[in-house]
Amino acid sequence: MNPLVPEAIADYLPNAIQLAYLLAAVLFILGLKRLSSPATARSGNMLASIGMFIGVVVTLFDRDIISFEFIIAGIFIGAIIGAFLARKVQMTSMPELVSLFNGFGGAASALVASGEYFRLATEPFGGHELGAMVISLFIGSLTFTGSMIAFGKLKGIIGGSPMVYPGYKVVNTTLLIILLVFAVLFVVDADNRTFYLVITGLALMLGILLVLPIGGADMPVVISLLNSLTGLAASATGFVLNNNLLIISGTLVGSAGLILTMIMCKAMNRPLANVLFGAFGTEAAGPGGTTADMGKTVKEVTAEDLSVMTTYAKRVVIVPGYGLAVAQAQHVIREVADFLESKGVDIRYGIHPVAGRMPGHMNVLLAEANVPYPQLFDMDDINKEFEKTDVVLVIGANDVVNPDARTNSNSPIYGMPILNVDEAKSVVILKRSLNPGFAGIDNQLFYGENSYIFFGDAKKSLETLIQALKEL
Ligand code: TAP
Repeated sequence: MNPLVPEAIADYLPNAIQLAYLLAAVLFILGLKRLSSPATARSGNMLASIGMFIGVVVTLFDRDIISFEFIIAGIFIGAIIGAFLARKVQMTSMPELVSLFNGFGGAASALVASGEYFRLATEPFGGHELGAMVISLFIGSLTFTGSMIAFGKLKGIIGGSPMVYPGYKVVNTTLLIILLVFAVLFVVDADNRTFYLVITGLALMLGILLVLPIGGADMPVVISLLNSLTGLAASATGFVLNNNLLIISGTLVGSAGLILTMIMCKAMNRPLANVLFGAFGTEAAGPGGTTADMGKTVKEVTAEDLSVMTTYAKRVVIVPGYGLAVAQAQHVIREVADFLESKGVDIRYGIHPVAGRMPGHMNVLLAEANVPYPQLFDMDDINKEFEKTDVVLVIGANDVVNPDARTNSNSPIYGMPILNVDEAKSVVILKRSLNPGFAGIDNQLFYGENSYIFFGDAKKSLETLIQALKEL
């Protein structure tokens, strides 16, 4: 019995714990629901955090495996690290942080499963317990090393381009089959520790081998998938420990991660198999390399030209992309938008679902600059408006506005839904050079009749624009 619980309420404790778990699960679900809109995301985050707090506190009363001193010290150290990271990590580094979280989540699941395996070694295992244990061990170990490779690629510690060798798909498939055979052997004869060791070793190796051939820019999709797998591993651990909250929260993470993965793939019009096994980016032009069409010329504009174009426009649509995040130009674009609005210009932002490098990247950046939510339009809604738009400002976006996706069946992005900015009266693209974006392909938009390029770092260009607007 737990020494911290008075005898009088000890009888009611199991039911109270299950009720509290139920409450925590409801808070998780409500929190997730609210996370689906930028307007309610903060309160959703808060609800889910309260749910997690309830879950942690209640579990302390349910478990007396290790001493409270260790648990409290763990919470304390974890909270300090979490608060430090939350304040320090840049928005553009969020995918790296998430991949670290995923990795540790996977490792925790594998360690808990291993702990239970050795702790209960003297007792006979139940079939379902063993099944859950092997899933937790397998997926948890694979997610751990896979996430560490994803982290290394995003951080630039290991090369971001796909690392492939002849026959790598055959090697990976063979390893996976061997792993599954050992998983079955483990369930049949759990006393044989060799099976345990082989499964752990192979899963750790497979995590590395599966992620290395995937290009750095596809990492957000991989991270979302690994996140989903971490959820599944946690859910399996819930079955090992007989903990309902872990089962529910793991399942929520698993399904949410999978849905997000599918949304990203759909928005890029690439099947998941192509992201995982297509080695996308192997042929792409590297940084500094250019696929610019030498025969064609682009029309340049200056800040003064642009200030005239935008001031006399009825409607201006702003299309942000990865370059906006790199330049950290979200505050200055808000300043430009506010200024134009004060002159009676109708301002809207067109958001492509995979603009930037992580889901919701542009929404988060614009929210940081307090851009009003009603001005943000999804791709389908804003696409109906471009014909009636005078000026589109494309800020650091490239692939998500590339008309090749509509017209060139040989293009790697053919079929990807894009923002049809070329339908507007004028399109001004703010970028530093004619270098390609993530897909590594030239963009015919730059050479269009109604297209103009404003060369330079987006933040600096917008700063000169605001100056020119004020002087007009
Ligand atoms: P990209 O196509 O990657 O283009 C970004 C552009 O920003 C580049 O052309 C670059 O041109 C410009 N740029 C970089 N730094 C800049 C700066 N400081 N100032 C001004 N411009 C700058 O971006 P996108 O249109 O947002 O498309 C996103 C791509 O990532 C898509 O292909 C998408 O499929 C892929 N992707 C997205 C996600 C998610 S979830 N968002 C996940 C995986 C993959 P210069 O170098 O000439 O300046």
